Amino acid sequence: MRLQDKHALVTGGSDGIGLAIAEAFLRDGADVLIVGRDAGKLETARDKLAAAGPRRTVETLSADLATSRGIAAVAEHVKASGRPLDVLVNNAGVAYLVPFETVSEAQFQHSFALNVTAAFFLTQGLLRHFGAGASVINISSYFANKMIPKRPSSLYSLSKGALNSLTRSLAFELGPRGIRVNAIAPGTVDTAMRRKTVDNLPAAAKAELTAYVERSYPLGRIGRPGDLAGMAVYLASDEAGWTSGGIFPVDGGYTAG
Ligand SMILES: NC(=O)c1ccc[n+]([C@@H]2O[C@H](COP(=O)([O-])OP(=O)(O)OC[C@H]3O[C@@H](n4cnc5c(N)ncnc54)[C@H](OP(=O)(O)O)[C@@H]3O)[C@@H](O)[C@H]2O)c1
Repeated sequence: MRLQDKHALVTGGSDGIGLAIAEAFLRDGADVLIVGRDAGKLETARDKLAAAGPRRTVETLSADLATSRGIAAVAEHVKASGRPLDVLVNNAGVAYLVPFETVSEAQFQHSFALNVTAAFFLTQGLLRHFGAGASVINISSYFANKMIPKRPSSLYSLSKGALNSLTRSLAFELGPRGIRVNAIAPGTVDTAMRRKTVDNLPAAAKAELTAYVERSYPLGRIGRPGDLAGMAVYLASDEAGWTSGGIFPVDGGYTAG
């Protein structure tokens, strides 16, 4: 039990990568608060998580983290719990994979609001509530540094690049308070987010992308949400007590080439 009695908050914990991380945290002995917008999805996730950690607490909170009101509500909830927070996973994100010339200002604002501003101000809002040796884990993307042919990613890549910069600068700034800040940069993972962006493609482009992805991953497949969980548990645990400022690829070897 590497996270015994730790208190963890996972944004976007009702689906995909966040849900798998929350599940792994519970199995390793943590109590977990998951945040998302859709209350129904949160309830379904809670039922699933209750089975993963039957002796641990699973809390849910509905909040839109792309808004300052949502961010404040989450910080207020943690404060009201009266319990120090040991682990914050800034996971909720959005991917607009649209050509540069068509990116709208609304898409730009939404992308930054969720992928960057939420991580920035939620971490800031929780600073006074972190316990000793707290760990902040930002879920970035390989797209910050490596692109895919015919997958226009300027906006998404920019937002994840900003999140990486935040990770490194905060590790430096918060280290003296004993707070560790790291990021995980997943490769392509089979989640609702991925399916949504791929399903929109014309059939030929979808086939081309699938073929490209299949031959690009040295380990021969794209990721499953659970593939990220081991790294998240490690970074959340005291075993990673001298690990900060890192951006760790978990991508089946994709960015090695
Ligand atoms: N899937 C990939 O291939 C991949 C690759 C690299 C990096 N990533 C990153 O991994 C993270 C998770 O992605 P995923 O694929 O697991 O996504 P996902 O399956 O679509 O899940 C997204 C989660 O975030 C929540 N969420 C979305 N917008 C929100 C908002 N405004 N406020 C609060 N919660 C919100 C969703 O719940 P509600 O919809 O109910 O709010 C859901 O729980 C993202 O940061 C993404 O950029 C994904």
